[in-house]
Amino acid sequence: MTGLSERFDPGFLWGVATSAYQIEGATKEDGRGPSIWDTFAARPGMTRRGENGEVAVDHYHRWPEDVSLVKDLGLDAYRFSVAWPRIQPEGRGRVEPRGLAFYDRLVDGLLEAGVEPWPTLFHWDLPQALEDAGGWPVRDTAERFADYAQIVAEALGDRVRHWTTLNEPWCAAFLGYGAGIHAPGRTEPAAALAASHHLNLAHGLAVPRLREGRPEAQVGVTVNLYAVSPGDDTGRHDDAARRIDGLMNRWFLDPLLLGRYPQDVLDDVAGVGGTDVILDEDLATVAAPLDFLGINYYSRHVVAASPWPGASEVGFVTTDRPKTASGWDIDPGGLAEVLDQVRRDYPPIPIYITENGAAFDDDVLSAEGTIDDRDRIDFIDGHLRALADARDSGMDIRGYFAWSLLDNFEWAEGYDKRFGIVHVDFETLVRTPKASALWFAELARSSSTKG
Ligand code: NOJ
Repeated sequence: MTGLSERFDPGFLWGVATSAYQIEGATKEDGRGPSIWDTFAARPGMTRRGENGEVAVDHYHRWPEDVSLVKDLGLDAYRFSVAWPRIQPEGRGRVEPRGLAFYDRLVDGLLEAGVEPWPTLFHWDLPQALEDAGGWPVRDTAERFADYAQIVAEALGDRVRHWTTLNEPWCAAFLGYGAGIHAPGRTEPAAALAASHHLNLAHGLAVPRLREGRPEAQVGVTVNLYAVSPGDDTGRHDDAARRIDGLMNRWFLDPLLLGRYPQDVLDDVAGVGGTDVILDEDLATVAAPLDFLGINYYSRHVVAASPWPGASEVGFVTTDRPKTASGWDIDPGGLAEVLDQVRRDYPPIPIYITENGAAFDDDVLSAEGTIDDRDRIDFIDGHLRALADARDSGMDIRGYFAWSLLDNFEWAEGYDKRFGIVHVDFETLVRTPKASALWFAELARSSSTKG
């Protein structure tokens, strides 16, 4: 890490992230209702080998050990998500006290360990009952989310300072309702667009509920941003790059930070339908002033126009860049690019990198019980250097959360893709910090204690 720790001031926040469905397990315990991920994973062929989050890494029972891990690594903050179906098993109305009690214990445990809790209220596990009533394409779901946010804020708001409403609304909307490769597995483009607006609206409706009576609350939202570039510099793929950047990045950043949807994307999708759910009066709600923007960054998309004249399809180009086990390009320069885009095109806002990390195939447990995940160290190191450059150039970037604390259920990919800095044996559920965890801990320690 030569020279890296010197580039972060002692106040920089170092954390790790997880999400409820990916780690908790105990899906039928303490009154939890079914979520769209339980239903989706039970459908043949939707997840690898039919794997699901029923046990996951049993965090629901092993959370004290997991909190100790974060404490022992000396990290400042732990980003986790609250499972809506534990709090409101039917997605509306009745509150399940045992669900709230779980997060209450977790928050207390974190604070006792000196780790700041950073809850996210929606990390994709929508209560199935709300999907049965139409899901995110339906406006009522946004209203229900605001109620749920208020319930959680009332229970934990005396101890939680940083709130994140949504995690990666692009994935929830477009992978869940458009591509159908995430729950609820619908392939309805118009529904995906409607879902995206209702997610943005849900966020906006929740913001005042989280702030109510809690002047110290810091409220943000987490978006996943991709670096997007054209397949070559001839100019013929520039429009494809504009379209993908539009739908993946600006379709969320613009309404959230500027209070309007990008006109070029509205034009692109005009024939699809679904955008009629966007009411003018929603836009001020969606753009409620925020305390911070969470950015998840993983990779770049290189895109190309369709070879067929007049066709609007966009192709994704396979590059010769090195790849993670997920097949994603490793491109720290892309992080610098998305940060630059945020600085250039939006009003100033404090930024936290709420996720960055990678799955690699070198996570092998040696006979000595160690995991020398060099690739992951290099990945995080490279991205932190890009981040440090952005900070040096004056951007207000306040923290970095590695994805993930633990190997976990990687959605449709099942348990194959290990993102943890802590290894989990999925048979015994034994946790073993990888070399990357020790490296990350040392980086956090040395950057926090210098000077
Ligand atoms: C982003 C998502 O928020 C998280 O749930 C997922 O596991 C990682 N990306 C890796 O794909």
